[in-house]
Amino acid sequence: MPVWKIAIDGPAASGKSTVARLVATRLGGFYVSTGDLYRAVSWVALERGLDVANDPAAVTALLATLDLRYGVAGPGRLQLYLNGEPVAPEPLRSAAVAAVVSLVARLPAVRAWLCDRQRDCCALGTVVMEGRDIGTVILPDAPFKFFLTASPEERARRRLAQPGEVPPGSTVASVAAQIAERDRIDSSRAVAPLRAAADAATLVTDGMTPEAIAEHIVRAVLAGGQP
Ligand code: CDP
Repeated sequence: MPVWKIAIDGPAASGKSTVARLVATRLGGFYVSTGDLYRAVSWVALERGLDVANDPAAVTALLATLDLRYGVAGPGRLQLYLNGEPVAPEPLRSAAVAAVVSLVARLPAVRAWLCDRQRDCCALGTVVMEGRDIGTVILPDAPFKFFLTASPEERARRRLAQPGEVPPGSTVASVAAQIAERDRIDSSRAVAPLRAAADAATLVTDGMTPEAIAEHIVRAVLAGGQP
């Protein structure tokens, strides 16, 4: 059984997670959401009442109290654990977390702290890892790198269709503004900004189904041969 290392990056709501999950299933590997790691740190920071926007030192100090890691929960399935307890997906996808996650993710101490946790997942076998800096920083040696993008309107429509992720009463325009702001912070931060790796294949996915995008990636990987 070949072992593949596949990096998928791209801006908010570009369909990365759905596509990465499909690709992992097709190739018999593990889907790794790195956004959930940043979301989990953000969620705990909010739970503990930290002023995430104005008190980066408090967020950095929080890290020493956390044990955050992925564990294998079943064939091809990872579960995120925080201090030994499984983390439920819903709070991570809340509008409150979405509003602050880019502020947490721009802190160099948070990124450094999460770096090895992401790389460690490669020991599991085939991984399809999805995020913002996987091809550039976390797995620069990955032989397969993809950068998924889509127009702001398409991405806003996709996000609006995902229940629970946007505040009540949201419109395509308001969601587009929120994800544009997150992309602005992600692209302009000093450490590991959102960027396509020089050797990544960029896919503009407007009008494509997740299945079609995944099929494209799987074909490219299989055509690339044994890594
Ligand atoms: O699902 P969506 O595309 O909205 O976001 P996500 O992948 O869950 O990532 C949430 C946020 O975490 C991003 O907006 C980034 O601020 C941060 N992130 C990052 O900085 N680096 C990564 N490798 C993954 C996520």
